[in-house]
Formats: sequence, C-alpha cells, structure tokens
Amino acid sequence: MTTFIVPKDIFHGLGSLENLKNLEGTKAVIVTGGSSVRKNGALEKTRTFLTEAGITPAVFSGVEADPSIETVLKGAAFFTEEQPDIIVGLGGCSAIDAAKAMWVYYEYPDSKLEELAAPFGVKKMRNKATFVAIPSTSGTGTEITGLSVITDTDKGVKYPLVSHELTPDVAIIDGELCASMPKSVTANTGLDALSHGVEAYVSNIADRYNDPLAKESINLVFKNLARAVAEPGDLETRQAMHDASCLAGMAFTNVWLGIVHAMSHQVGGTFGVAHGCGNAILMPNVIRFNAKVTDKYGDLAALLGKSTAEEFAREVAGLTASVGVAGSFKECGIDEEKWNAKLDSMTEHALKDPCTLFNPRKPTFDEIKAIYQACYDGTAIVF
Ligand SMILES: NC(=O)c1ccc[n+]([C@@H]2O[C@H](COP(=O)([O-])OP(=O)(O)OC[C@H]3O[C@@H](n4cnc5c(N)ncnc54)[C@H](O)[C@@H]3O)[C@@H](O)[C@H]2O)c1
Ligand SMILES: [Zn+2]
Repeated sequence: MTTFIVPKDIFHGLGSLENLKNLEGTKAVIVTGGSSVRKNGALEKTRTFLTEAGITPAVFSGVEADPSIETVLKGAAFFTEEQPDIIVGLGGCSAIDAAKAMWVYYEYPDSKLEELAAPFGVKKMRNKATFVAIPSTSGTGTEITGLSVITDTDKGVKYPLVSHELTPDVAIIDGELCASMPKSVTANTGLDALSHGVEAYVSNIADRYNDPLAKESINLVFKNLARAVAEPGDLETRQAMHDASCLAGMAFTNVWLGIVHAMSHQVGGTFGVAHGCGNAILMPNVIRFNAKVTDKYGDLAALLGKSTAEEFAREVAGLTASVGVAGSFKECGIDEEKWNAKLDSMTEHALKDPCTLFNPRKPTFDEIKAIYQACYDGTAIVF
C-alpha cells in the first residue's frame, strides 16, 4: 500500500498565471528572489491578478540563491506583521523553498532548523495560511514537492526539510515566466529535471503511478532542452520544459531519487558545482553502475530510438555537451589536489545521504569512490 501526493490544483499552460484571479483569501505575501521576476513582469502581473481576486498583496523580496536561515527568519517576521492567509512563492526554487520555510516559522515560530530537518520534523501546516508556488525556473519541481532546502550559513550545512505537509496547495506552471532565464540557468536546471525523471524511474520504490510521469518528463527534456537554450524566447518550448520539470517533480516527490543526487549534493556543498551540472556529470556512470540490477534504462533508451543502458548513458552525455555543460568535474575547474583531499569524506557523506536508500543498487564505499573518480576524469566506468 502506498500513496500518491501532489498539489490539489495544478494550473499549467502559457498564460496560466491568470488563474490567480480565482483564488480565495484576503491577504497574500509574495516571496521573491532578486530582480528577475520584477524585470520580466511576473511580479506585477501576480500583484494585479491577486488584487482582482480581492486579495491584498504584500511583497518580501531579496531571497538569495541557496536561501539562508537568516532570510527565512526575516521573512517569517514579515509574515507575522502582515498576517497573510496565502503565501505565494514566486521565482526560482530558492525563492519558493525560502517561502516554504518562512511559512513553517510563521505557523510554528519556535521551530529549530535542525529539528525541522529530522524525520517528521514538520508539524501539521495550514493553520494560518495556504501555499501557492509559481516557478520561474524549470528544474527542481519544488512547486510539486514536499521539500525545501535551507542553508545554515554559520555551520555551512544545507538542511533538506522533507514532508508532504510542505507540498504546495496550488502550483502554477506558466512557461512565459521562464523566457528570461539565462542560457546557463536553463541548461543546468533542465538537466536537473532530467535527473529527477531518470532517478525516479529506476527508484527501488518506483511504481506504475510514477513511471509514466517520469518517462514523459525525460521524453520532453530530450525533445526540448537544446531548443530552450538556443531559442530562449520560444514559449512553446519553454512550456514543454516547464511541464517536464513539473512531471518529474510529481514522480520524484513520491518515489524519491538515487545516488546521482546523493553524490551531487556533496560535490555541490564542497566545490559549489551547480546542482544540475553535477547531476549531469554523474548520470552516465551511475546509469552504467545501476544497469547491472535493472533493465529499466532500456525503456528510456527506447524513447530515443535506442535499446541499451549504455546507449542511454551516451545520449545523456551527448545532451549535456550539446547545451554547453561540462562533462567532468575536472572540466568544471576543480583542482585535482583539492578533489583528492575531499574524495573520501564526500564518499562517506554520499553513502549516508537519504537518496542512497532509494537507489536500485546498493553501493559500497569503493564503488561510490570509483564513480566519483571516473566522473572527475571524464571516463566511462566499467563494472
Ligand atoms: N525544493 C526542492 O525540491 C529542491 C530540489 C533540488 C534543489 N533544491 C534547491 O533549489 C535551489 C536552486 O534552485 P534553482 O535551480 O531554481 O535556482 P535559483 O532559484 O537559485 O535561481 C538561479 C538564478 O536564476 C535567477 N532566475 C530565476 N528565474 C529566472 C528567470 N525566469 N529569469 C531570469 N533569471 C531567473 C535567480 O534570480 C538566480 O539568480 C538550491 O538552493 C537547491 O539546493 C531544491
Ligand atoms: Zn535535483
């Protein structure tokens, strides 16, 4: 027995931001990042549609990339002043994740980050407000997931808050908001979405509810990512990538991820490699490693007119190169001595990362280390 949990309302399609006009409530706080949603007009439209719905909007802006607990506490204090009954996370995943955590502190002001990050750490939400997520990047799927990643800057630790209580009530998937994304953000976030689809599809708790969503997200990324990077203003392509990210989010929030994410989290935290780029570098060798215990990569290869896991691994590497993303950690500019110095601790932490539990093949320390090393050198690993 298991469950399938996603937001109650998912509005999708070009122009779907307009659905904000039909929300019910009295006061909203819109949480945004830097200036991108101001510049591309999404913030103004959001305010206008909320006002048309009879909801008074206030704005908390300035959430940084990889949001910090300080920003979360500032936002929660702003919520306490404004007393919203609707929280709107608008922008990249950083803004939406920060808004989710601010929402928790608004509902439970005495929360402690470490406790929230523990299993069942997030208590029952929606005592004061509901949550609307409007992404402007097509990658993490946070508009769908019960996940928020917050950084404790003093400790230098990224805490994932994981609970279906954090699954937004409403998600709006409007590709128009993404047209202003810079090429590198489009490429990295799109490869992140691909990795969500691939890892969810082979998860050891994958099921027939999530498989079709994961598969279609992968199909959409292969058909659209290169064009989204080359033609940023092509809105149909932007919508297809936004849908891909959302479908992948629906799959992975229910069946989790695997060692691509477990390993990428460490490289991101240690060397600052962009999340999607790290995932893309790791994916081909993790596919080779996992292919010994699952034949599901053959289904994914078939989407591309191929048949084997090895061919699928090469297609992933080919797509990564075609959108201008590095093919190895060495190519990312990581110094070899620094890499060698961190290799064992990254391997240990990757083994302990919760995503490792859902990988189809249980890895040993030496296997993770060998995958890391091959991905640093840019070589194909043989198992
Ligand atoms: N919640 C989850 O499910 C989940 C999963 C994986 C990673 N994460 C976290 O998500 C964060 C990364 O999120 P992200 O990849 O969406 O990037 P981001 O939100 O940090 O945004 C990246 C950059 O792109 C800009 N930007 C965003 N949308 C834009 C647009 N439409 N036009 C122009 N510029 C735009 C932002 O201002 C920022 O400078 C990290 O903190 C990571 O740890 C969360
Ligand atoms: Zn990811």
